[in-house]
Amino acid sequence: MSPKIILDCDPGHDDAVAILLAARECDVLAITTVSGNAPLHLTTANALLMCELAGLDIPVHAGADCPLVVPAAHAPRAHGETGLDGPPRPSVHTEAASADAVGCIISTVRTHDDVWLVPVGPLTNVALAFRQAPDIVERVAGISLMGGAVGPGNVTPSAEFNIWADPHAAQIVFRSGAQVLRMAGLNLTHQLCLGAEVIAALRADGGTVPAFMADLFDFYLAGYRERAGLEAAPMHDPCAVLAVSRPELFTFGARHVDVETEGGLTRGMTVVDERPGTEAVPNCEVAYAIDTPTALDLIVDAVRSHG
Ligand code: RIB
Ligand code: CA
Repeated sequence: MSPKIILDCDPGHDDAVAILLAARECDVLAITTVSGNAPLHLTTANALLMCELAGLDIPVHAGADCPLVVPAAHAPRAHGETGLDGPPRPSVHTEAASADAVGCIISTVRTHDDVWLVPVGPLTNVALAFRQAPDIVERVAGISLMGGAVGPGNVTPSAEFNIWADPHAAQIVFRSGAQVLRMAGLNLTHQLCLGAEVIAALRADGGTVPAFMADLFDFYLAGYRERAGLEAAPMHDPCAVLAVSRPELFTFGARHVDVETEGGLTRGMTVVDERPGTEAVPNCEVAYAIDTPTALDLIVDAVRSHG
């Protein structure tokens, strides 16, 4: 049976892939949006665009337009000013189901058993939901997030963007006591990269969605090629979806993870305790490896399935 999830996202090129993949792999009860890669009105518009383009009947609820404490920050170098730069933008006719993503998370978890929260942007919405309704923490089946890293960051030497963008929210989530917390950090997501040959294959497929995604990937890959000299672009957010729907593709390690909120150089760092014999009690299943060929096939199949 497909796992029931709420996908909390900040589309975002890789978030867009996560939406298509989640729709195929999971029972997506709702999509909630958050300020991150782009301002909230754009991440919400982008989520609606993806649902309409792929013919997905999934409610989109807009959430937090700024982090809990730090100022809002975005990632136009990676995703463009719209958050989904690359292809010509189709017109969108649907509207958000509400502007209350936090209320949606709370009510959905209270009325459905075994719901996974899959946040793939800054953790503001999830943290607010846990703060407003602490009773839902023990009700969620688990949290599978894209964020953090065991090792170098991306937005700073020590921090990954989703955690850095709202470190106080991330700390609330990592300290929540959720029964299962899976972390797909940069050390993992950079093992799942998509290159020019896949883009060409999608473009050759024809079809509205593969062609649109090929244009998105061209833009996304060009940014990684220019900034980091990469010839393939990491599919960060889809990893958090697959960690719920296909956990057998991953190698996890039980670790204690916490988040630095104050450090000048280390704000947003996920501090992963890897000391041999540590007495720290693990609170997180940290993903260390993924079956890359199988995961990539699942992503391509998902894009094609919405053709
Ligand atoms: O650091 C990668 C993360 O930041 C991904 O979720 C990407 O979409 C951006 O939000
Ligand atoms: Ca994201």
